[in-house]
Amino acid sequence: MVLMILPLVGAVSVSESLVALTTLCLVYLLLKFLRSDIPQGLRRLPGPRPLPIIGNVLQVGNRPYLSLTAMSKRYGPVFKIQIGMRPVVVLSGSETVRQALIKQGEDFSGRPDLYTFRFINDGESLAFSTDQAGVWRARRKLAYSALRSFATLNGTSPQYSCMLEEHICKEGEYLVEQLNKVMKADGSFDPFRHIVVSVANVICGMCFGRRYDHDDQELLGLVNLSDEFTQVVGSGNPADFIPALQYLPSATMRAFVSLNARFNAFVRKIVVDHYATFNKDNIRDITDSLIDHCEDRKLDENSNVQVSDGKVVGIVNDLFGAGFDTISTALSWSVMYLVAYPEMQERLYQELKNKVGLHRSPLLSDKVNLPLLEAFILEIFRHSSFLPFTIPHCTTKDTSLNGFFIPKDTCVFINQWQINQDPEIWKDPSTFNPERFLSDDGTELNKQEGEKVMIFGMGKRRCIGEVIARHEVFLFLAIIVQRLHFRTMPGDPVDMTPEYGLTMKHKRCHLRATMRPFDVQ
Ligand code: HEM
Repeated sequence: MVLMILPLVGAVSVSESLVALTTLCLVYLLLKFLRSDIPQGLRRLPGPRPLPIIGNVLQVGNRPYLSLTAMSKRYGPVFKIQIGMRPVVVLSGSETVRQALIKQGEDFSGRPDLYTFRFINDGESLAFSTDQAGVWRARRKLAYSALRSFATLNGTSPQYSCMLEEHICKEGEYLVEQLNKVMKADGSFDPFRHIVVSVANVICGMCFGRRYDHDDQELLGLVNLSDEFTQVVGSGNPADFIPALQYLPSATMRAFVSLNARFNAFVRKIVVDHYATFNKDNIRDITDSLIDHCEDRKLDENSNVQVSDGKVVGIVNDLFGAGFDTISTALSWSVMYLVAYPEMQERLYQELKNKVGLHRSPLLSDKVNLPLLEAFILEIFRHSSFLPFTIPHCTTKDTSLNGFFIPKDTCVFINQWQINQDPEIWKDPSTFNPERFLSDDGTELNKQEGEKVMIFGMGKRRCIGEVIARHEVFLFLAIIVQRLHFRTMPGDPVDMTPEYGLTMKHKRCHLRATMRPFDVQ
């Protein structure tokens, strides 16, 4: 067989090819031999047989959420694949994931050292870097408290319960005006293009105390290229696992590196301005509050962890990055589902009309009266599973799960998509049906059912922006559904096929919207 292939090798001689093949086989056998021993009482992880050098890359393919879900049916909720030379454990099934991330949370709380992660936030990212546990914990605590305190600050007008609500409502109104303007000028609009600026402005308001115009080229250049970022950092990118690929020219990788450099420079410039105008008695935003922490050296008084000023202030880069792409993706999908299910759009509008009226914009306090809208959002999270895997995890010590041995420093993928599509949890999982989250009479949200949806991860690495994200998706959506009627372009059906990445996007497209009657009193 080998000899049959050899003539195809072209310029390379037969003897050179034989040497190369023998070396490959020897390396493969050596690696097999070096496979870790399994402690007594534990089992070796099941999984598909890997090919030499490339491992299971071909079986994983370019839609890992589908291929790894199919493999979980065959090998169970804990199995191992190999991407290149690197073993990766894949977890699915709600119970198994809960066991790993909550009950054995410490063991599974690390991040793997992946090539692409080194470019994010200059390798100092809170979410993606391999920060040692104490440093990561201190930074996470700081990020969480900065986010919470700036979200819950009082708004400038009593109608808003907090600053976050005020930012979102104002940006929601601008978005409606903007879409109306673009419709008048062009007759159609690209939903992601405009939503992303509005959402970025909310997090910019909190992080940097400023907002940008919808035509600001600097911001547009950054936020509208987030597809390139998320496609590269999606779980299973071969460049992360096969070192040779890092040295091959790749246009996608070049774009990724350049986008990160621009993003870092954008945030760095704002941080430098903040240092220059910093006044301890007037903390304007999250950047100021992080600078203040550095000045006070108050960081994590309970432990002796030393975190550099760069790592503290660099947190704002993570908050800004995580704060716009995820929420804009959720909202852009929401608009796609509105046009794909027009009768649902009409029911949501009627709910808003009846419960909020058409004389004022919806507020967070209206949430309890809008169960259909809440159910619609949960079903978008579940059905699209636009964050199909969490950010990859890594074991922090030798551990075991469901009786299988998992060595320290093993990369772990958590398949959220599988949980959201699991027929053991959901009836007709592929059907889009918000009613699954409503009580039998349709008047109340079934919160227990809602908690089964997995989109924010769980346990120690669970998303720290979850509350903000849920408020933001709710309010933006309530505002645009109350004010606009969305439709597809004539003869242009909706394409709901996701493009794989850390956050999966729908294909860029054009839609139409017309203003609904609205009368502010
Ligand atoms: C719909 C919107 C969002 C979704 C679906 C989402 C989802 C996630 C997921 C799945 C993770 C990884 C969990 C893991 O690795 O196990 C994560 C981490 C994170 N998220 Fe979010 N997120 C959203 C919005 C936000 C927002 C608005 C912020 C901040 C303003 C934020 C900040 C973070 C940070 C800092 C981490 C890293 C946590 C860590 O590694 O300790 N996210 N998010």
